[in-house]
Amino acid sequence: MNEQQKPILPGKGASDYERYLRTDDLLALQKSPEQMLHPDELTFQVVHQSSELLMKAAAWELERARERLAAGDTANTARLMRRANREIDYPIALLHILETITPYDYHIIRAGLGHGSGLDSPGFLALLHIGPRLGDTFFEQLARQAITLDDVYRRHQEFFGLHEVAEEMLDFDERVQLFRYHHLKLAQRIIGGSVVGTMGTPVEILKQRQEHLFYKPLWDLRNDITARKNAELQRETTGHGG
Ligand code: HEM
Repeated sequence: MNEQQKPILPGKGASDYERYLRTDDLLALQKSPEQMLHPDELTFQVVHQSSELLMKAAAWELERARERLAAGDTANTARLMRRANREIDYPIALLHILETITPYDYHIIRAGLGHGSGLDSPGFLALLHIGPRLGDTFFEQLARQAITLDDVYRRHQEFFGLHEVAEEMLDFDERVQLFRYHHLKLAQRIIGGSVVGTMGTPVEILKQRQEHLFYKPLWDLRNDITARKNAELQRETTGHGG
């Protein structure tokens, strides 16, 4: 090992790569083969742990984005939100890995979960916490500039920055919905749609939660625009025709 390869950072591990990333600790966070109730358990834990990390990172970036938005810096708000949204893409994709666990094998793993429930997921709870706060900050910005949401969309060239942020908010909302949708399908195919989960919450509740939106006004605006355009069109047609 030459001087360049020798670790200079403090901590455990033979290299600075291992020390910086704390791979010794990270890779010891899963059950050992002897502790596993089923060999599929490594995948089950790794999928959950990876999702927790990515949701933690996404919630962190969204908090930073919210601070930038409060300061009127829409460019960096949109940049950080884009990053957070890309991070959330992975927990959604990871759900599909667990579709490969068959129901009988899952029940072996489930026996070791105690009262463990995704309702207590710190990462997901952090996303649920930042979502509405980000929305409040966005609408405060509109109020401060004395403009409406419709202005942002109608005059999107002029309000380019706020329009970008609004679209990222829509992307975030959609991703949380997508996570819930794919998670619901996962629960339905593994434990069934009409049974009770580990905390006594029926899978049916997952279905109701899947309808939840953080930014309903952003979605409603599309309806308003279309309704107004339809009305205009109708007026023009009746105007010309009779
Ligand atoms: C075999 C795979 C899975 C099954 C069968 C499953 C099942 C369930 C069930 C039945 C619930 C309802 C609450 C309860 O009764 O505990 C729930 C909630 C939840 N689970 Fe999972 N889950 C699985 C994988 C995952 C993964 C990989 C994550 C990623 C972190 C996750 C995150 C969540 C979250 C965030 C909730 C609350 C949902 C909400 O608020 O809409 N689950 N899960």
